[in-house]
Amino acid sequence: MSILIKNGRLVTASEDFIADIFIEGDKISAIGKNLSMSADEVIDASGKLVFPGGIDPHVHLDMPFMGTSSSDNYETGTLAALHGGTTTVIDFVLQTQGKSLHHALEQWKGRSNGNCYGDYSFHMAVTDFNDHTKAEIKEMVEKEGITSFKTFMAYKGALMIDDRQMVGLMNEVKACGGMVTVHATNGDLIDFLIAKHRSEGKRSPLYHYLSQPEITESEATGRFSDLAYQTGATGYVVHMTCEGALNHIRDIAKRNQKVYAETCIQYLILDASLYQRDFEGAKWVMSPPLRELKDQAALWAGINQGTIQVVATDHCPFKWDQKRLGEKDFAAIPNGHPAIEHRMELLYSEGVHKGKISLNKFVEVSSTNAAKIFGMYPKKGTLAIGSDADILIFDPNEKHALSVKTHHMNVDYSAYEGWEVTGKCKTTILRGQVATDKGDVRIKKGYGQFVKRKKIKAII
Ligand code: URP
Ligand code: ZN
Ligand code: ZN
Repeated sequence: MSILIKNGRLVTASEDFIADIFIEGDKISAIGKNLSMSADEVIDASGKLVFPGGIDPHVHLDMPFMGTSSSDNYETGTLAALHGGTTTVIDFVLQTQGKSLHHALEQWKGRSNGNCYGDYSFHMAVTDFNDHTKAEIKEMVEKEGITSFKTFMAYKGALMIDDRQMVGLMNEVKACGGMVTVHATNGDLIDFLIAKHRSEGKRSPLYHYLSQPEITESEATGRFSDLAYQTGATGYVVHMTCEGALNHIRDIAKRNQKVYAETCIQYLILDASLYQRDFEGAKWVMSPPLRELKDQAALWAGINQGTIQVVATDHCPFKWDQKRLGEKDFAAIPNGHPAIEHRMELLYSEGVHKGKISLNKFVEVSSTNAAKIFGMYPKKGTLAIGSDADILIFDPNEKHALSVKTHHMNVDYSAYEGWEVTGKCKTTILRGQVATDKGDVRIKKGYGQFVKRKKIKAII
C-alpha cells in the first residue's frame, strides 16, 4: 500500500513548508516538492495543514474506578481519538494494592489486546511499592517497554502512596532508566476538606471543587519535585491545573533540575464557574478540578515558556447515569470527563486560531514532546523519512460546533456542547493506512498496536 499526499502545508515542531509526502507501507519514505511516484492513493492536501498524528499520553480507557468503569473502552476510545486526529494514546495500568504489577498488566492486556483501532502504550501506576514491586520494575522497562511509572499522592486507600514509597520507587525507576510521573495533590488535606464539607451537609459538585483548593496541588507539586531532586529521578507532573503548581516548576529550574509538566485541554479553556450549575456541574467533576481564569493565563504562558511541555486530556469518561452515582454526595461522583476526540481541534482553535500559541508549538505540545519524553521519538511525533506514517490532515478554516450528536465517544453528553471550533480534522492516517476520513472509518478493530517504549532520556 502506498499513499501520496500532495501540496499540503507540513508543520512539525520546528518546520513549516509546502511539500508532498510519499508513504510506502507503514513509514514515510519521501518528503519533497512535486514528488511524482505512482501511489495506490493520492490525497490532495492543498489548503490543508499536515501534522504528525496527535499523541495523548494521558487517557483512561475501560478503567475500573470509583465503583464503576470509564465508559470508553479500547475500541470506542481509540476510534474516537482517531476521528480527532490522535493516533497514539498512553493509558494507565493500575496496580491493585496487595497485588503485583504483573497481575495488573495481565488484566489491562486482557481488555486492550486486539481491541484497539489506534496505537497505544501503557504507563504503570504503582500504588503499593514494596520489595516485590521493586523487583518488577526492571522487567517492566526491559521486557514490556513500559518505561514510565505513575504515582498518586491522593486517593488514599486505593491508589495513594506515601513519601517513603515514593522515594523508594524513584530510586529504583532511576536505576532502571525510567521516569516517575505523578498525580500531585495532597491527599490527606483533600480528604480532610471532603469530610468537613460532607459533615456540614455540603454535598453538591461545587464542594468537589472547594475540597481541592490550589494549595493542595501546589504543595504536592513542590514536594514531588523536592523528592525527585533528592533522588535524581526524572519526574513528570500530569494534569497540572494552576499557577501555584506551575510556579514550583518554574522555581526548580534555578537549582539545575528538570521536571516535565503536562496540562490538559480542559484546564486551558474551562473554569470553575461551571461548578455553580447545580448537579450539571458533575460533568466537570474531575481531579484536580477546573480552576480560575488567572490559572488559564498561567498555563498558556507556561506552554510558551516551555515549562509545560504537553497538552493531554486525562480522558476518563462516564455516562450520565454513572455521574448520578453522586447525586446526593459529590464524593461519589466518578472523577473524569470526555475529551479524547476534541483535544487537537480545541487546542488549534483556542490556541493557534486565537493567537495564543504558534503552529510549531501546537505540534510540539500535542505530539512531538510526548513522543520524546516517553521514548517513542522519532518513530512517533514527527513527519520525517523513516518515521511511522501517522499523519493528520487538517482544514484550518472549517468552522463547526462540538456536540454529543456528532461525537464518537461513548458518552451521552458532551462536556463541550455547542462549543464553536475553527479547524477540523479531515483525514487521519495511522502507520500508512487511512484510518478515518471525514467521519468514515477505513481500518478494522485490532489494527492498533501496542508501542513498546525506549528508556527515558532527558532530551527536551
Ligand atoms: O478526574 C480524573 N482525573 N480522573 C481520572 C483519574 C486521575 O486522577 O487522573
Ligand atoms: Zn490524576
Ligand atoms: Zn488521569
